[in-house]
Amino acid sequence: TPLPVIEKLHVLVTAGPTYEALDPVRFIGNWSSGKMGIAIAEQFYLRGAKVTLVQGPGPLSVRFSGIDTIRVTSANEMHDACQKVWTECQVGVFAAAVADYKPRQYHKEKIAKKESDFILELDRTPDIAAGLGGTKTSQQFIIGFAMETENEINNAQRKLNKKNMDLIVLNSLRDERSGFGTDTNKVTFISKQGHVEAKKLKTKVEVANDIVTYVSNNAP
Ligand code: C5P
Repeated sequence: TPLPVIEKLHVLVTAGPTYEALDPVRFIGNWSSGKMGIAIAEQFYLRGAKVTLVQGPGPLSVRFSGIDTIRVTSANEMHDACQKVWTECQVGVFAAAVADYKPRQYHKEKIAKKESDFILELDRTPDIAAGLGGTKTSQQFIIGFAMETENEINNAQRKLNKKNMDLIVLNSLRDERSGFGTDTNKVTFISKQGHVEAKKLKTKVEVANDIVTYVSNNAP
């Protein structure tokens, strides 16, 4: 059922991992499945939003052709795709597990095995959420995710402030039914205003619905 507030929105969602190529056959990646971001894109769409999903590699996709999906591979490609669409969007939900580093050098030919060790140099990738947070207008709303192993709430709050987010969704790594590849998630919502709400274990679809509800109650 469409929600009047949500129907007016164009929502940008990022999902999945990024792969940072080293040579034609190798990359640096991570175990993100894209399930959380896909659920968010679908729930906003079902409530009437226009949705652009920028999705990294992986076998899963959204069920609705009405969701404008842009497939990307690397952090730089995800960054460029998001930059292009962000000025038209009122809401950004950054659920992708973007690689923080990429190989300094891309080898056009497959790197041959040698007897000696191989030292890989890495460069920083762009921080997509922080970049868009920096240009956020008073009419735009940004939601990010955090996965922390220590000082969870404090670190998440620092990220929210640094990246100029309005809400950060902290993923618990203390629960085995939460995180990469699972269908469930245990999250804590932390708002810009400092309000902290620990949710119970839910399906990723339920968490996505909580995010839609939060936006309908709090978006500018
Ligand atoms: O700093 P950290 O990677 O822990 O922040 C996580 C949040 O920032 C997530 O919302 C993630 O999608 C976003 N992010 C991003 N681009 C990056 C790194 C993280 O958009 N290069």
